[in-house]
Amino acid sequence: MRSERTQLPLLASCLLFAMVIQAMLPLSSASLQVGYYRYTCPKAEKIVKRFVRKAISDDVGLAAGLIRLFFHDCFVRGCDASVLLDPTPENPHPEKTAPINDPSLEGFDLVDKVKAALERHCPGVVSCADIIAFAARDATKIAGGFHYAIPSGRRDGRVSLAAESMRDLPDPTFNLDMLKENFAVKGLNLEDMVVLSGAHTIGDSHCSSFLDRLKPGVPIDASLAASLKKKCPSPASGNVTVDQDVVTPDLFDNQYYKNVEAHRVLFDSDNALLTSKKSADLVSIYARDQTIWQVKFAAAMVKMGHIGVRVGKGGEIRKMCRVVN
Ligand code: HEM
Repeated sequence: MRSERTQLPLLASCLLFAMVIQAMLPLSSASLQVGYYRYTCPKAEKIVKRFVRKAISDDVGLAAGLIRLFFHDCFVRGCDASVLLDPTPENPHPEKTAPINDPSLEGFDLVDKVKAALERHCPGVVSCADIIAFAARDATKIAGGFHYAIPSGRRDGRVSLAAESMRDLPDPTFNLDMLKENFAVKGLNLEDMVVLSGAHTIGDSHCSSFLDRLKPGVPIDASLAASLKKKCPSPASGNVTVDQDVVTPDLFDNQYYKNVEAHRVLFDSDNALLTSKKSADLVSIYARDQTIWQVKFAAAMVKMGHIGVRVGKGGEIRKMCRVVN
């Protein structure tokens, strides 16, 4: 019979072994996981990246569209691809029809193409919510940002309401307190908000989103205001689009923060970052150190990607991203 002395180390190694095995297993339904499709669809992330790269090489503006799509998905009912659902007779006003999304939100066709390829490759496995998350990650890198690992395993939701997009997404007229509150409700703090706003370093905006700011008394750089007035002369030009970052419009760099400091930004919500010492200090740090911002942006995207996710048995894996199963 073994002595107690020999039994103790044996017990300890058994425990250690069990812990190691547990760490290697997929994290059950409790949380998202980097490499979630490792065994079930090993090429999933590669396939997404291939499509995203090709689509952005055909249309550089799509990088911005995909990053915004992820934000607009996650802030409304969590990252569950509810933003992708099309209107139906039972639900004529899903999220994508809300004025905050329509006609400005992009990326739907690309997601359809990726989903079709993934369904051919491994049917019924990869969620539309994860496709959005992977595509936003890849778009960030392709446009000049850092690569980051994004945990996956999100499941798709079955409910999508335009009214919730209007309620949950921030408006460009928001001041700092409103922005802080809007992000806090989603579990994101002031720094996350300042960091994520840096996405406005690429992409464009419809004139209608900032026309109200082209009047005297608004803190906006005079030469930017003059050029915007030319491009957006009246409310009738609401559908015209302009670059958000006039210096490096398609590059995912820290130019946005330099623009904020110079009041060369489009929205009250951008300018609001200068209205508290804490947020203005962050703007100054990111304007001076691109690497710090890139690292924090990646971390904030991962954090945003956890908002309200469904895992395990919640939700479903849609067969087509525009309709529930
Ligand atoms: C802080 C609060 C925010 C407000 C008020 C806001 C508002 C807006 C507005 C009004 C537009 C222009 C829409 C149009 O008229 O075409 C826009 C564009 C954009 N936003 Fe935001 N946004 C915010 C935060 C974010 C976040 C957190 C992200 C992503 C991490 C993001 C990514 C983008 C991108 C990439 C575009 C350009 C889209 C394109 O070119 O297709 N925004 N945003």
